[in-house]
Amino acid sequence: MHLIRKAVHLLRAGGLVAFPTETVYGLGADATNSAAVRKVFDVKGRPSTNPLIVHVADKDVARRYATDWPESAELLARTFWPGALTLILPKHSSIVDEATAGRKTVGLRVPDHPLTRQLLHAFDGPLVGPSANRSMRVSPTTAGHVRQELGDWVDMILDGGACRVGIESTVVDLMSARPAILRPGGVSRQDIERIIGPTELIQASVCPTAVSSSPGQHPVHYSPITPAYWYNPRDDKNLIASLEKRDPRRLTVVSIASVPQIIAIRWIAMPCEPVEYARRLYSALRDADEAQGDAILIEMPPDEPCWLAVRDRLHRASRPLAQRVE
Ligand code: TXA
Ligand code: MG
Repeated sequence: MHLIRKAVHLLRAGGLVAFPTETVYGLGADATNSAAVRKVFDVKGRPSTNPLIVHVADKDVARRYATDWPESAELLARTFWPGALTLILPKHSSIVDEATAGRKTVGLRVPDHPLTRQLLHAFDGPLVGPSANRSMRVSPTTAGHVRQELGDWVDMILDGGACRVGIESTVVDLMSARPAILRPGGVSRQDIERIIGPTELIQASVCPTAVSSSPGQHPVHYSPITPAYWYNPRDDKNLIASLEKRDPRRLTVVSIASVPQIIAIRWIAMPCEPVEYARRLYSALRDADEAQGDAILIEMPPDEPCWLAVRDRLHRASRPLAQRVE
């Protein structure tokens, strides 16, 4: 409890506190304090046009920060909160304009982590919480990742262990008659549709023109530093064979095959089940970077609904192997 009291004190004074959630670690600041929110953008190196998610303790608090609360919001919040779901709704004026990049809407989420729920209850207000990484880089799923990435720039890091879900929340826009998923994530499209019916999917990783409606959906994101390429084991056989010949032992491979099938300095075997895979994804990308090869090759999991969120992140962390230039 002492840690929570200290964190609340820092946040009230306009400080930055990184907090654990079930998805990834967030970089927390008071969402009603413009100077504190501006610091978040500075520390992340985030474009001021990309709005932040606002975290609250529960549904009743969320309702205070949205000027409209449609039936779809009530149903989704009741079903999935606390959890990996962010709802885009009309913004209340107490959330500063900097937090939402000047938009009239706000993304609200109740995270599912005991430490951060204690923090939110004790803070008794809204906290912005973008993923606690530098902009465009891999999201942190442990307190150690946050320390590596932003250590000197934050006032405190609450350590809540490794994140259980491992990829970010699903962002659902409820502003128009037909709801839309702006970012696939921890809650699946099927689960959302089971509650509110047909929900559109805006696929920014495939369709760059979708970027304007979903500002954070830049096609390049979540990237390791080493050049990373995704491949399909069947279609890209010849490309891989030629790489192996030219670049022996300089490749790092992230694959769902447990046995190495490509000559590589490092073979990172991933779970072949999507929920488990998501949990491991970002730390695997960090491990792949640390292998210090010349290139990271990532096997793209199958084009099936259950892999949607993982494939979205992989498409944005890497380029197609077929487009690799010498
Ligand atoms: O799981 C998560 O959502 C994590 C944890 C820490 O809660 N947070 C997170 O925040 O991923 P961030 O800032 O890295 O991503 C927020 C995403 C961005 O794609 C942003 O563009 C979108 O949500 N977003 C936020 N507010 C929005 C709004 N008003 N309209 C449209 N998109 C919005
Ligand atoms: Mg992020």
